[in-house]
Amino acid sequence: MEFLELAKARYSERSFEKSHPIEEEKLSKILEAGRVAPTACNLQPQKIYVLKSEDSLWKAAKLTHTYEAPVVLLICYDENVVWKNAREEGYNSGEQDASIVASSMMFEAEELGIHSLWIRGFNSKLVSETFELPENIKPVLMLALGYPKATSEPSPRHLDKKPLSDTVEER
Ligand SMILES: Cc1cc2nc3c(=O)[nH]c(=O)nc-3n(C[C@H](O)[C@H](O)[C@H](O)COP(=O)(O)O)c2cc1C
Repeated sequence: MEFLELAKARYSERSFEKSHPIEEEKLSKILEAGRVAPTACNLQPQKIYVLKSEDSLWKAAKLTHTYEAPVVLLICYDENVVWKNAREEGYNSGEQDASIVASSMMFEAEELGIHSLWIRGFNSKLVSETFELPENIKPVLMLALGYPKATSEPSPRHLDKKPLSDTVEER
């Protein structure tokens, strides 16, 4: 599928088919798309936890709404590895790096017929405690993955995209 077509076809999935697991080779391809994503100075600070055991999925669902996705990727960055901006004290690229890794995986999933949901509605401290993350590993988002139920459809909000004239201007 042409990329723009794929980008338009994607929507946030909130109706996963719990009983339809993701094939291992497809999951590998999704993770590979994240591996080759760009990151600041190519430092690759991402750390991805694949949550797919019953116990891990249950823990994730206690932290946020995961809509019964059979796989949830907990996408973090390593504060010891991340690029720090010498021109701006206190700034690091961790959230951006994790986000572009996640975006690459989200679109690879879509290409493979697997739907996704980007989730940030959680408390980072509770996520770190629950999954016993080391102090230097900072959670950014969860990417829920799975096949859609036959009845799945985009939310009305999905169609409500602003025109370019609202968000783009020349300077
Ligand atoms: C940074 C970010 C955080 C989000 N967090 C959540 C979330 O916690 N729960 C949820 O159901 N959707 C979440 N979403 C999905 C958005 O609500 C969704 O992308 C938006 O409403 C547009 O709908 P669409 O993805 O179907 O086009 C998040 C998306 C982004 C980019």
